[in-house]
Amino acid sequence: MPHKKFKPAKVRAFFCPLKVVLLFMPTIHINTFTSVQDSADILRQEFGGDIELVVIAGSGVYKAISEQSIVNRIPYAKIPALTTTSVQGHGSDVVLVRFGSKYVLFFTGRFHYYEGNTIEQVVAPIRIASLLGIQQTVLTNAAGGLNPAFKAGDVMLINDVVNMTGLTISDTKRFASQDTKVVRDWYDETESYCLARGVKVLSGSYVALTGPCYETRAEVRYYRKIADAIGMSTIHEYQFATMCGMNVLSCSMITNTLTDTTVQSITHNEVLETAERARGKMSVVIEAACVNAPKLR
Ligand code: HPA
Repeated sequence: MPHKKFKPAKVRAFFCPLKVVLLFMPTIHINTFTSVQDSADILRQEFGGDIELVVIAGSGVYKAISEQSIVNRIPYAKIPALTTTSVQGHGSDVVLVRFGSKYVLFFTGRFHYYEGNTIEQVVAPIRIASLLGIQQTVLTNAAGGLNPAFKAGDVMLINDVVNMTGLTISDTKRFASQDTKVVRDWYDETESYCLARGVKVLSGSYVALTGPCYETRAEVRYYRKIADAIGMSTIHEYQFATMCGMNVLSCSMITNTLTDTTVQSITHNEVLETAERARGKMSVVIEAACVNAPKLR
């Protein structure tokens, strides 16, 4: 009788029911140091190492960059540490932008915590930028105006933040001081540059929530007491960039105003429509922030 052929381990493993289950499971994206390092290497290879600033675009903001200023682009899908953006109004390319003699790494779409991203995924663009030796960060976002003087379409430079997300990024040090590191000259020069181009920017504080719901009237009444604008992002990139020793300038496009007396009926479409209308203004503010960024320390 012929000897029964031994089934190789590989074939048996292939039919293992656990393997079949794993095959259909969604990929879990873990940002290991290697994937962030590999991402930085890819960008260095494609874009060169002469980049001074990183900009993160908030909802609808990526359209504020003119095609003429774009030197090169790479889709997020080619960068191992980046996941995909699922929010309408966010792009999915890393773009190399040139303002005068300065090169800027521009992330056209943001990763929000409410999309199911981990905090590591949210801050991956900043981590990559830091590995590229970039020391200046410009964070942009769409925000609701809490300050009754604000109008939809205004742009506010963020002079301080309130973190209501319940999540904090800090290094290994406990009880770290959180004093806001605003580079005064950078803010002042950005403001003057905008004014010289006919754009008046406001200044105020930003309160960050995890979202993804808009606020109730009672919440608006409460948050009005503590901040001028409200949104669902920025805070962790801000904390992480500060932790990396970067200079940070953040700004909010006020896409809607909030009152505590009338029923709120904000939609994401309204947010995107205002962002579209104020695109020209935001483009001046981004250019102003990049051109006036302080010299490297
Ligand atoms: N609330 C929270 N986040 C936002 C808003 C808002 O009204 N508008 C844009 N982002």
